[in-house]
Amino acid sequence: MTLVVEASRDSCGATITGVRLNEPLSADLLAAIRAHWLEHKVVAFPDQQLSPEQLVGFSEQFGAIGEDPFFGHIDEHSKVAAIQRDANETTSIFAEVFHSDWSFMSVPPAATALYGLTIPPVGGDTLFSDQVAAYEQMPEALRARVEGLTAIHSAALGYAPDGAYGEADQEQGRSMKILSSEKARETQEHPLVRVHHETGKRALYSSAAYIKGFVGLEKAESDALLLELYAHQTRPEFIYTHRWQVGMLVMWDNRSLLHAATGGYDGHDRLLHRTTISDTRF
Ligand code: SIN
Repeated sequence: MTLVVEASRDSCGATITGVRLNEPLSADLLAAIRAHWLEHKVVAFPDQQLSPEQLVGFSEQFGAIGEDPFFGHIDEHSKVAAIQRDANETTSIFAEVFHSDWSFMSVPPAATALYGLTIPPVGGDTLFSDQVAAYEQMPEALRARVEGLTAIHSAALGYAPDGAYGEADQEQGRSMKILSSEKARETQEHPLVRVHHETGKRALYSSAAYIKGFVGLEKAESDALLLELYAHQTRPEFIYTHRWQVGMLVMWDNRSLLHAATGGYDGHDRLLHRTTISDTRF
């Protein structure tokens, strides 16, 4: 089989065919896929057949499976989480705000892999926003304000007991296994402009979903800057819209992208299996 890589016409994203992911990759194939993934930031592999065990096996070739601080896992595998919404569910769409996964950790995950099991006939696309491009195309005045800033990350907005996925949300019958906790209020500092330790590229790292403020700025100034940044970070020219298929595996680089889920599939089930792949350092 020959690896075929088709880049999207957008700022990021590529589709890769000619490889079976349910068996170990040769060293050459792994190195090639890793290089394409780093270049395109998010890669999609259609027509795969992956059990939870095989999804973990694929993921572990790119790094150790990381911690999922606020997710429960599927019964069949302790390292796989289900991103799930049932046809009759009335809870909000999970993860509709652009974010970088678990950016509030001291060493946040390098990658996330998501495998489509039940895909609705309409809606449910995932949006990816290229944060290397967002950094490189920043207006000079905004860049001058953010260069050197340290962001304060926290999971509280989502996962504290009073957060978006907290106790009230669970009472509404969310099907996803989310474990809200007081631990979500802990904070972690990271530079807002991050240098990717594999590519050397600079990117805006994370967003208002997990950044609660900036060291040395008053709350009002931080809040205004976060909003201005979010508007810039999610400009249409940075975005690749990913349309799912059953059996498609997507892996993205959390260090150079933001991503967001979308709705539009009420009345249909959606189920994907997810692994979080840890980094070796920030
Ligand atoms: C996620 O942020 O992991 C979920 C993305 C999606 O449901 O499309």
